[in-house]
Amino acid sequence: MTENREYAMGRSKEETNRLIEQSQLYDRVTRRFLHETGLGAGMKVLDIGSGAGDVALTAAEIVGPSGCVVGVDMNPEILVTARERATALGYAHVEFVAGDASEVELDSDFDLIVGRLVLLYIPQPVDLIRKLVTRLKPGGTVAFQEPALSFYRALTSDETPLLNNMIEWGLGVFEHTGANINMGFDLFGVFTEAGLPAPSLDYHAPMGGPEDWPGYEYLAASFRSLLPLIEKFGLATAEEIDVDTLANRLFKEVNDTKRPLMLPPHITAISRTHS
Ligand SMILES: C[S@@+](CC[C@H](N)C(=O)[O-])C[C@H]1O[C@@H](n2cnc3c(N)ncnc32)[C@H](O)[C@@H]1O
Repeated sequence: MTENREYAMGRSKEETNRLIEQSQLYDRVTRRFLHETGLGAGMKVLDIGSGAGDVALTAAEIVGPSGCVVGVDMNPEILVTARERATALGYAHVEFVAGDASEVELDSDFDLIVGRLVLLYIPQPVDLIRKLVTRLKPGGTVAFQEPALSFYRALTSDETPLLNNMIEWGLGVFEHTGANINMGFDLFGVFTEAGLPAPSLDYHAPMGGPEDWPGYEYLAASFRSLLPLIEKFGLATAEEIDVDTLANRLFKEVNDTKRPLMLPPHITAISRTHS
C-alpha cells in the first residue's frame, strides 16, 4: 500500500479545473510522447493516476473504438469528472477505476502503461513499476512523463523577485510533503532498477511571454491549490501571495524584464519490454 503522504495540490473542484488547464498547456508534449510510444489503433492502454482523464482521453482518441483505455486514480471524486468527459466525447472504450495503483486488480494484457505527473507522489516508484510490468503483454511499453522541478531554480534573477518567491514557495510545498520534485531525472534509474530496458528520454518545457499566454493564469491557479499547504508550512501568507492578482503581476514582471517564463519542465521516458 502506498504510504499516506499529504497531497501537495489538494483535491478541490478548482484543482480538477487546473489539471484540465494544465493538460491544454502540455497537450502538444503529451501527444508527441504518446505517438513516440508507438501507440496506435486497437491497442489497450493503462493510465496510472489518470486525474481528470486528459492522458486517458488522448490515448482513447489515438487507439480509437477498436482499442481500449483504463484509467486508475486513487481519488474517486476526480473520476466523476473524467467519466463525464469520456461520455461527452462518446468514448465507450474508456473506463476509470478508483483505487491505489499498487493495489487495484488489473488485466495483464496492456500494450502500453502510461502515467503523467504521478510517480513523483509515489514513495516507492520502483516497486510500483515492477508490479505494473506484470500487467503488460510481452513486448509492451512503459512510458511516464514526470517533472524536473529543480531546474526552475536556474531561472531566478535579481530582476524577478516575484518569480523567485514563487519558485521557493512552490518547491517548498513539494519538498515538505515528500513529493519527488526531480522524478523526471529519476525515471532512468527507476525504470532500469525495476528491470526495464534503458528508456529513451526527452525533455520539454512550454514557454510564454505574450500577455495572452494562458500560462500566467495556470500558474496563479496552481498557487490557489498550493496555498493551504504554503500557509501550513509557514512558507508565505495568503496576503503575500495575493492569488487574485498573481497572474497580472507575473505578466508585468515578464513584460518589464523581457525574460520569458517557463512552465515546469517535464521529462519523458519510454521503455519497450522484450517480446
Ligand atoms: C497531478 S495529478 C495528474 C493527473 C493526470 N495524470 C494528468 O496529467 O492530468 C496526479 C494524480 O495522481 C493520483 N495519484 C497519486 N497517487 C496515486 C496512487 N498511488 N494511485 C492512483 N492514483 C494516484 C492523484 O489522485 C492525482 O489525481
